[in-house]
Amino acid sequence: MVAVAILAAGRGTRMKSRLPKVLHPLGGRSLVEHVLNCAAIVEPKRQLVIVGYGGEAVQQALSHLSEVEFVEQVEQLGTGHAVQQLLPHLQDFSGSLLVLNGDVPLLRPQTLAALLQTHQTHGNAATILTAQMPDPKGYGRVFCDGNNLVTQIVEDRDCTPAQRQNRRVNAGIYCFDWQQLAAILPQLTNANDQKEYYLTDTVNFLSPVMAVDIEDYQEMFGINDRKQLAAAYDILQTRIKEAWMMAGVTMVDPDSITIDDTVQIGSDVVIEPQTHLRGHSVIGPGSVIGPGSLIENSQIGENVKALYSVISDSVVQANSRIGPYAHLRGHANVGQNCRIGNFVELKQAQLGDRTNVAHLAYLGDATLGQQVNVGAGTITANYDGFKKHHTTIGDRSKTGANTVLVAPIQIGADVTIAAGSTVTEDVADDALVVARSRQVVKPGWRLPGHEKSLE
Ligand code: UD1
Ligand code: CA
Repeated sequence: MVAVAILAAGRGTRMKSRLPKVLHPLGGRSLVEHVLNCAAIVEPKRQLVIVGYGGEAVQQALSHLSEVEFVEQVEQLGTGHAVQQLLPHLQDFSGSLLVLNGDVPLLRPQTLAALLQTHQTHGNAATILTAQMPDPKGYGRVFCDGNNLVTQIVEDRDCTPAQRQNRRVNAGIYCFDWQQLAAILPQLTNANDQKEYYLTDTVNFLSPVMAVDIEDYQEMFGINDRKQLAAAYDILQTRIKEAWMMAGVTMVDPDSITIDDTVQIGSDVVIEPQTHLRGHSVIGPGSVIGPGSLIENSQIGENVKALYSVISDSVVQANSRIGPYAHLRGHANVGQNCRIGNFVELKQAQLGDRTNVAHLAYLGDATLGQQVNVGAGTITANYDGFKKHHTTIGDRSKTGANTVLVAPIQIGADVTIAAGSTVTEDVADDALVVARSRQVVKPGWRLPGHEKSLE
């Protein structure tokens, strides 16, 4: 049996943030979510997250994961003290316990699976992940005998200058035999520079403890400050983009593009420069996104083009053209073969197939049928100062330039609205609406004082 415990109680003082460190976002997920995701590969029977500083916020952020149990570490007296909090919760558990620092988000699932495998095949008391770090500063140094059996782990700040030369560092990723660990956990002391109970000191009581070197040391980057957060983001971006390129996505100037870990992209998609794909977005095959677009939590169908546009929490169906400079938000849903042009904002608007909104319009809280043509400058006046109201426009209707639709209002099918109309009453199918004042022309009129020049 396998259980996973994630250490997420520390404040993360070096982040200089009110947000608990493990909740800092990295490419669409919080640090702790990255770690939980990685751990899923071992199909743990139990998943325990140790919370303390900002514990309520951490629980809230993970509340969608029903299988996660939270264990409180009221005072944060070190990583060993954090693991001691598991004792009452894992009384009946026996088997392997993976302990993962909550601030190590780049770990690959295969690496964790291999660690567990090594641990179990060797029957170790503990197996710990290590790496040869070019710049080991800040990490605990791992000392081994000739057989990769750990003799001690010394924190950077507790190292002698000679010990500090050791580049083999502790990743903060461990596999323990729980029953052996539980038996010795109470023996930890805090005789070190930080006066903390170190989980790393458990290696002094357990045997055998094996170290396993990771191939790609970048996987074990721990996030302690914002510089490291940015460096991890870079690494994650490179990984994500390389994986999508290998899956058949073209990226023009990949360095200028960012893609969250949570995005799905179809084949033959082209992502143009300065484009950012975030959250739970899906980009359908053959679409061209960018240059200069931001897609957030949105579903984009096949063969869509989105140029210099922002699309949030919305749907764009196949073959539609968005932009340049369009803004879709708040559950806009654009049908197939639509054209949404410059300076058009759609909020909670549903558009049927082949409907065009080509220039300078705002459609909020609206339902449009198919093949509607929305003229330049058409505005739904959806807000009366207190409430939002709905606008409906039937199939094949056309609004003239500068139409104002004062909601709540229903416009039928095959209606034509004259330019400059302010429409306040419902219109049935097959009608022409002219709702503007008549033009007045006074021939032979000049500004007062300029009459003379007429003669
Ligand atoms: C720790 C290791 C170090 C290793 C490094 C890898 C110890 C003593 N040191 O150092 O050997 O090289 O990680 O990244 O373990 N936490 C708690 N409760 C606490 C203290 C910390 O839950 O009382 C959590 C933190 O939220 C964090 C993790 O444990 O997610 C690691 O704590 P941190 O203070 O960052 O340890 P490091 O100094 O980085
Ligand atoms: Ca750390």
